Amino acid sequence: MYLILLLLFFAASHSSFGSADSANVYEDFARCFTNETSISHKELSGVVLSRSSVSFTTVLRAYIRNARFNTSSTPKPSVIIVPRVDSHVQAAVICAKKLNLQLKIRSGGHDYDGLSYVSAVTFLVLDLSNFRNITVDLNDDGGSAWVQTGATLGELFYRIWEKSEVHAFPAGLCPTVGVGGHVSGGGYGHMIRKFGLTIDHVVDATIVDANGRILNRKTMGEDLFWAIRGGGGGSFGVVLGFKVKLVEVPKTVTVFRVDKSVDQNALDMVHKWQFVAPRTDPGLFMRVLISSVTRNKTQTVNAKLRALFLGNANDVVSMLAKEFPELGLRKEDCKEMTWIQSLLWWMNHVDVDKVKPEILLEREPDSAKFLKRKSDYVEKEMTKPELNRLFKILATLNRTGLVLNPYGGNLNATATNETAFPHRHKLYKIQHSVTWTDAGPEAERLYIGNVRTTYRIMTPFVSKNPRSSYLNYRDIDIGVNDHGTDSYRKGEIYGRKYFGENFDRLVRVKTAVDPDNFFRNEQSIPTLPPKRRSTMSPL
Ligand SMILES: Cc1cc2nc3c(=O)[nH]c(=O)nc-3n(C[C@H](O)[C@H](O)[C@H](O)COP(=O)(O)OP(=O)(O)OC[C@H]3O[C@@H](n4cnc5c(N)ncnc54)[C@H](O)[C@@H]3O)c2cc1C
Ligand SMILES: *[C@@H]1O[C@H](CO)[C@@H](O)[C@H](O)[C@H]1NC(C)=O
Ligand SMILES: *[C@@H]1O[C@H](CO)[C@@H](O)[C@H](O)[C@H]1NC(C)=O
Ligand SMILES: *[C@@H]1O[C@H](CO)[C@@H](O)[C@H](O)[C@H]1NC(C)=O
Ligand SMILES: *[C@@H]1O[C@H](CO)[C@@H](O)[C@H](O)[C@H]1NC(C)=O
Ligand SMILES: *[C@@H]1O[C@H](CO)[C@@H](O)[C@H](O)[C@H]1NC(C)=O
Ligand SMILES: *[C@@H]1O[C@H](CO)[C@@H](O)[C@H](O)[C@H]1NC(C)=O
Ligand SMILES: *[C@@H]1O[C@H](CO)[C@@H](O)[C@H](O)[C@H]1NC(C)=O
Repeated sequence: MYLILLLLFFAASHSSFGSADSANVYEDFARCFTNETSISHKELSGVVLSRSSVSFTTVLRAYIRNARFNTSSTPKPSVIIVPRVDSHVQAAVICAKKLNLQLKIRSGGHDYDGLSYVSAVTFLVLDLSNFRNITVDLNDDGGSAWVQTGATLGELFYRIWEKSEVHAFPAGLCPTVGVGGHVSGGGYGHMIRKFGLTIDHVVDATIVDANGRILNRKTMGEDLFWAIRGGGGGSFGVVLGFKVKLVEVPKTVTVFRVDKSVDQNALDMVHKWQFVAPRTDPGLFMRVLISSVTRNKTQTVNAKLRALFLGNANDVVSMLAKEFPELGLRKEDCKEMTWIQSLLWWMNHVDVDKVKPEILLEREPDSAKFLKRKSDYVEKEMTKPELNRLFKILATLNRTGLVLNPYGGNLNATATNETAFPHRHKLYKIQHSVTWTDAGPEAERLYIGNVRTTYRIMTPFVSKNPRSSYLNYRDIDIGVNDHGTDSYRKGEIYGRKYFGENFDRLVRVKTAVDPDNFFRNEQSIPTLPPKRRSTMSPL
């Protein structure tokens, strides 16, 4: 049923909007943009791309990160804007608003359901890939950086490393993820238990608002600055850059991996992991992946543990000998290295001395597998029989897995209402994951079905009322509902799952800064309906 709705949702636009109309949209938009910016005709052709532009397809595809949205029937934007300077972004907002066109903002393009470059209505893509300047200043209050939103996480890590091996930044582990979506949506990586979320280290930002003005923290005010730390950027404006504070890490850190099959007591390991990983030393992050595998022609389950310890190998081995004997961690399972090398190791480079940090700068344009992700939060440990049932079902679901990410540590040192991200007191987060390589609707039906099955069978064991989700693990399924055209009621469905009690404040901020709902997507923060605005409590 969901699938049918989704197919309708994405298919609706394709036929309804032909290339003749898109040529008209381009003409109107280019006229307005030229008037606003006084751009030369020559420069315009590199900044505002029509569907007939030679670079249109290359630019569109460069940051498609999910092959599901790289088909001939995927709805395409009428125009792509590739701004080179701030004033181009301002003009894009002013002109899209004037022409009543939906503007999708794209930084790294990693949105799991493609919301930054796909839409069921006529739309434009604002592609921020030229906005990638990064300035690192180690002398500013313990170290800080201004980073433009079209930069990747890998570029940010690399620019910090160029200046210091003991400074770092707590953010996601995939180097091609864009700063724009990642930071505005919360952001976490393998130091979440030590330093919290990425947004906990954001101290300033510049944004183009719905009136085309450029604002910073001071001029946007604390409400909007609060909203763009976890509430998602796409609802509030175009974030041009964030100022972040760096953190200090030891010169030597330790990584290790332990893989177990069901015969090697994977079940006991995962069961005990739930008690140890969220409670142990905040410097230790242990992620577990449970996934189906075919071994010796039979379907079974593997558990793979991957960990970072902000300290040396001896210390973590002796600590876990006491806390987690089921793991059986030995010194020879551990590797000591620098923090930047731990990122390369996490990218699956086993011998980190053989690879250079420069690979963090690679953007890997125009390559992607087919994927679907969903998320959940666990508040109470599952029992062994419950886990055993999960393992049995998971074994039958090809290419499907659950990634368990421990919370705890210092994550709850920040109050749940201090940023828009609310899930700070959970035990651990699950990412339901399926990744495949064969094209076509049959494969899609099968594999998306698999991940919906794990989501369904986990229902009794995860958070309820609402069942929480992580915004950056975008999941269009959780917004499907029967509220028709009531955009506030529709928004409340996914809004409460992503933001809990912070949803109400997000709606108030949204209504105040963008009352016409210009910045919107399929899961953006709704405005209050006009008849309810008079009763709106002050911000
Ligand atoms: C392979 C992979 C690995 C990942 N690993 C992690 C991880 O370790 N930790 C984690 O927390 N998340 C992770 N994620 C999720 C990732 O954080 C989100 O998908 C994030 O939103 C991606 O940001 P982006 O700029 O690349 O995406 P985009 O698709 O460009 O944008 C995502 C959303 O943000 C909006 N947006 C983007 N830029 C701006 C801007 N400048 N101003 C306003 N709105 C903007 C878009 O409109 C869209 O709604 C991963 C995703 C993938 C695909
Ligand atoms: C041209 O730009 C000016 C200045 O920004 C603006 O006032 C005017 O409305 C614009 N005209 C058109 C036709 O867009
Ligand atoms: C990036 O920095 C360079 C050098 O200061 C500047 O010329 C350029 O305009 C900046 N780019 C953007 C998109 O701000
Ligand atoms: C695979 O199965 C065969 C026959 O059942 C058995 O002899 C063999 O030991 C198995 N191999 C592994 C690696 O389990
Ligand atoms: C998109 O499809 C084209 C072929 O149609 C392929 O060359 C390209 O690599 C694909 N890109 C992604 C991101 O899947
Ligand atoms: C899963 O994969 C195995 C081995 O690759 C295959 O035999 C089986 O048919 C697959 N099951 C489904 C439902 O696709
Ligand atoms: C944070 O969580 C830890 C357990 O991980 C707990 O001991 C502590 O009391 C919590 N602190 C707050 C402020 O909730
Ligand atoms: C956050 O919650 C605390 C108490 O729960 C309250 O005192 C504080 O005013 C709230 N902060 C904001 C910004 O709403």
